[in-house]
Amino acid sequence: MTAQVNTSHAEPKLQNSERVVIFDTTLRDGEQSPGASMTFEEKLQVAHLLDIMGVDIIEAGFPITSEGDFEAVSAIAKSLKRASVAGLARSAARDIDRCAEAVRKALRPRIHLFISTSPLHMKFKLQKEPHQVLELVTESVTRARNLVDDIEWSAEDGTRSEIDFLCRCVEAAIEAGATTINIPDTVGYAVPHEYRVLFETVRAKVPNSDKAVFSVHCHNDLGLAVANTLAGIEGGARQVECTINGMGERAGNAAMEEVVMALRVRRDHLAYHTNIDTTMLTRASKLVSAVSSFPVQYNKAIVGRNAFAHESGIHQDGMLKNAGTYEIMTPESVGVSKTSLVMGKHSGRHAFKEKLKELGYELGDNALEEAFVRFKDLADRKKIVYDEDLAALVDDEIAHAHDRIKLVALMVIAGTNSPQTAALTLDIDGEQRTHQATGNGPVDATFNAIHALVPHKAVLELFQVHAVTQGTDAQAEVSVRLAEGGKSVTAKGADPDTLVASARAYIASLNKLMVKRGKQRPEVMTV
Ligand code: KIV
Ligand code: ZN
Repeated sequence: MTAQVNTSHAEPKLQNSERVVIFDTTLRDGEQSPGASMTFEEKLQVAHLLDIMGVDIIEAGFPITSEGDFEAVSAIAKSLKRASVAGLARSAARDIDRCAEAVRKALRPRIHLFISTSPLHMKFKLQKEPHQVLELVTESVTRARNLVDDIEWSAEDGTRSEIDFLCRCVEAAIEAGATTINIPDTVGYAVPHEYRVLFETVRAKVPNSDKAVFSVHCHNDLGLAVANTLAGIEGGARQVECTINGMGERAGNAAMEEVVMALRVRRDHLAYHTNIDTTMLTRASKLVSAVSSFPVQYNKAIVGRNAFAHESGIHQDGMLKNAGTYEIMTPESVGVSKTSLVMGKHSGRHAFKEKLKELGYELGDNALEEAFVRFKDLADRKKIVYDEDLAALVDDEIAHAHDRIKLVALMVIAGTNSPQTAALTLDIDGEQRTHQATGNGPVDATFNAIHALVPHKAVLELFQVHAVTQGTDAQAEVSVRLAEGGKSVTAKGADPDTLVASARAYIASLNKLMVKRGKQRPEVMTV
């Protein structure tokens, strides 16, 4: 095989390329990641970004699981201008009816139904015989189709199902009115060749398969989610289910940014295209990471901090001569802008708003004003304000705008004489409360003061600090994870003062925990 050297960054020529639709499930499967949870406002913010970046279908949640999920799906359905909005439902009447009610106001509503089809799941999880599952497929799709036109049906644990039974279920779902058929690799067990053949086989065996779009949904338990997704497309799937940053149950789902860029960079081998504006991928990654408080690993493909960094002298030399030597795509093509000196304390509101726009943020008037006040404060305290500083500040503002508990003031006495002392004032549901506490170090003292003002039984599982940029005046970004009764949440806080950032992160976690407490798991139902 001769390697084709791409010395320019021009796109390879596109021939007979077929469209693959992108179904984003960051707000449903992604939000099921242990430790991740988003508030109502955060979900709306993510949904809007997904909509403008060109996602075709946004799975906004699982409406039966909680009032909060129902409200979020309804609000997203009402407000999006372009994408289809899907809600997830099991095969039970009340799941379906609730889901239909939530997506009803969308421009293009979709109900996404699922039921397990593997022998293991049917026997142990559903405790049903295959013929009963088959009946439920027809019943549930028929009911959903009477409420909404666009029905997707998923065979949960599809890759461990018996092929003949799977085909009968797919045929029944299409017969009853499903127009999208998803065959998930629920437990991330498949290997690429096998997954491709599965699609080829089902499409060939099911007589009415030409009446539906086939869909891939891959989990990453063996690190194969993206490879399997591409193989599924080659097997005939034309819908990809994925999440930003690969968030999702356990090891996550296929990462949208990786699938989309693989299709774009290697269109010479994979003649498929999507409608995604790839220059928004980095912004989407940052927003999802900020609101879910899930850090993106440094070496993550496409959106990791090191994805376009060149450390070795040989690589740097090659890059200077021709960027194509070590870069298969440009940083600009995924929305990475070079770190730049942005603004100082004399910059005005207009320049600030324009700069945020350039970074991909559109804030409402109140949020913009609050972010501007914080920017002025930051510019007073920090000599150089970088793009990363602004992103951390605005992400922090977005993530915490609707918090019930807010930090008002913190004063810490630290040094060689212990115990250290923290005097803290919080605004809790509009009422200011102050407490002074001591501790073994300034962070401990600060956290003790928070605990005294907001008593709780949550356990601190993670406390992590990193600098947003270089220099001793860099902003600190702190992550805090709290666990309570089997539920865990992670949240971040940013500030040039590490103790203030720590307090913000702890308070943000408590706010998220309050949201999570109101969200029950659906009771176990055998459908
Ligand atoms: O992984 C899975 O099987 C799912 C279904 C609900 C589609 O997320
Ligand atoms: Zn899944």
